[in-house]
Amino acid sequence: MDEMERWLAPLGLAQLAPVLRAHDVDLEILPELSEAELEKLGLSLGQRKKLLKAVAGLSHQSLSAACSAKPTPSLNDVSSAERRQLTVMFCDLVGSTAMASRLDPEDLREIIGAYQKRVAKVVARYDGFVAKYMGDGVLVYFGYPQAHEDDVERAVRAGLKLADTIHRVRLQADVEPLQIRIGIATGIVVVGDLVGFGEAQERGVVGETPNLAARLQALAEPNAVVVAASTYHLIGGLFEYEDLGALEVKGYAEPVRVWRVCGPSAAAGRYEALHPATAVTPLVGREEEIELLLRRWRRAKSGDGQVVLVSGEPGIGKSRLIAALQERIEGEPQTRLRYFCSPYHQDSALHPILEQLERAAGFSRDDTPAIRLEKLDTLLSQASPLDHDVALVAELLSLPVMDRYPPHAFTPQRKKEKTFEVLLRQLEALVRWQPVLMIFEDVHWIDPTSHELLDLIIERVRHLPVLLLATFRPEFPPPWIGRPHVTTVTLNRLDGRDGAALVKRVAGSKSGLSGDIVDEIVERADGVPLFVEELTKAVLEADAHDDDGASGTLSAVPRPALGIPATLHALLMARLDRLGPAPKEIAQIGAAVGREFSYELLAAIAPRNGMELQTALDPLDPRPRGFDELGMAEEGQAFRGDQHLDASRHSGLTADQAGAF
Ligand SMILES: Nc1ncnc2c1ncn2[C@@H]1O[C@H](COP(=O)(O)OP(=O)(O)O)[C@@H](O)[C@H]1O
Ligand SMILES: [Mg+2]
Repeated sequence: MDEMERWLAPLGLAQLAPVLRAHDVDLEILPELSEAELEKLGLSLGQRKKLLKAVAGLSHQSLSAACSAKPTPSLNDVSSAERRQLTVMFCDLVGSTAMASRLDPEDLREIIGAYQKRVAKVVARYDGFVAKYMGDGVLVYFGYPQAHEDDVERAVRAGLKLADTIHRVRLQADVEPLQIRIGIATGIVVVGDLVGFGEAQERGVVGETPNLAARLQALAEPNAVVVAASTYHLIGGLFEYEDLGALEVKGYAEPVRVWRVCGPSAAAGRYEALHPATAVTPLVGREEEIELLLRRWRRAKSGDGQVVLVSGEPGIGKSRLIAALQERIEGEPQTRLRYFCSPYHQDSALHPILEQLERAAGFSRDDTPAIRLEKLDTLLSQASPLDHDVALVAELLSLPVMDRYPPHAFTPQRKKEKTFEVLLRQLEALVRWQPVLMIFEDVHWIDPTSHELLDLIIERVRHLPVLLLATFRPEFPPPWIGRPHVTTVTLNRLDGRDGAALVKRVAGSKSGLSGDIVDEIVERADGVPLFVEELTKAVLEADAHDDDGASGTLSAVPRPALGIPATLHALLMARLDRLGPAPKEIAQIGAAVGREFSYELLAAIAPRNGMELQTALDPLDPRPRGFDELGMAEEGQAFRGDQHLDASRHSGLTADQAGAF
């Protein structure tokens, strides 16, 4: 079908395509044709009128824009209210009233300006959105207009960064360093251009979340980040907290539970942080993969070093597979070295390596630099280090070596090479004791310097008793494929049987979910274990809240009960946002109608004409598995159309709801 046909089809005029084509009329020319000219082409009166009406609905520009393959998302395009999960951060300057009474208005304005600039910069770094400046308060959204799978975490990291660095805002000599308070809350809100129009419009948010964030902010100590339960439950073990208990909050009848975030947790990795050992679902399937890993481990132990690359989309079970291997070889002598690449440190050289060293050395939050240096010394001494070895690593960890080690005068390039040597020597020293299991998690986020080092390690382990495992998402092109000691494992989605087994393991024996519900979860999750887990938990929660308690009620109302759980909401919304505004709008309308909807129905209710509708529908192709062909290259993964529809069902605002606000 060519563009012309695609445009004509929804108007019921597909049969005109050959005629127009025969006269070299394309979509660019079409709006310029008069009725007389159309008549000359042999079009009936009805056809002419229909065509002209459709053409008139489009400006010339929008017609050609509609013809170009991809709609470009822009903030201004995203209009009309929508419901979505948002993490809202509210920050406020400490002591600004006192400052106002002491300082010139001019100076005060300068200070506030510098402060706002700093906030905007940090927020931008985590891809948040400054919604509003209210004097010295700043209202920030994470998850809008662009959602990310980790918006909650982004908000908390941005908050911590601000609290840690706000004192660096440069001020006149006689002004105390600035301090701020930060409150963060997460919730489903209605967001849209409810306030004003045009460039300067604020993106108004309706719902209690911004309000709660502002109230929590007021409870925070200077330079502290305080989070609500909604936020806390979604980021769990990623951070360390001080439980502030349940506090009275203005406007809330019941006391509200609050936590202060102390900093990123020492938990070894994201997987552990988000999956405490007690909550891990027993492994389902993956027997062959485990077998392969065990065989490689046996070879590695004999000195024939091995590398296994584990590739797969998010949530498919890469980390779980590696955890399963570790469980299986638990009793054997081994040294484990684990490196976690992080989306937040892709431009921080050697981040996974340094973080591993800090963990291995046993640094704790309140160690003085001298104590840390001592610990580092002990750690590195296993490899009988050269004099400058410790100094080089200490420098990487920003530890002042004082006069303990002789100064060196290496060029940056030389220093890097030397540092790599130190780290490789360290590995060689370790393998003298026992075999080593090295795990590099989420290599798609690796920083370039660590990548270079990993290249060297992969070469080096070939003749060492080391099994090196690296996990990554499909978009990462591993440069190591083809070496004799490198094997690749691609994790596929679970089949229906394993999917059902997983539902049952998550649900436990006593839940008694009906077969229908199990089938529905399996079908919807489409073999991605993360989805299976989250959807199952959502169903169990819905069941628990159900007065009847009987699971039969679930099958009676399967759709709302199987809504999108908060933990997945962001992940799916992020996908939807990436499609651009037009497909998203259609998905929202479609989702309000039902999981399957006809083109005609959509055409009748969508505020778009046929051409626009068709273009918008392209990426949402409602054929089953249409998304698989969508080639969402950035993420290298695809979702079923109905998952998108679900996320948009949640975000779509029905007329009734809109009226309520
Ligand atoms: N084969 C499996 N059996 C049981 N649970 C699994 C399996 N694969 C994945 N999971 C669970 O699904 C979730 C996502 O898996 P994870 O290993 O974190 O994915 P990835 O590392 O690929 O992003 C985790 O909670 C994990 O425990
Ligand atoms: Mg993982």
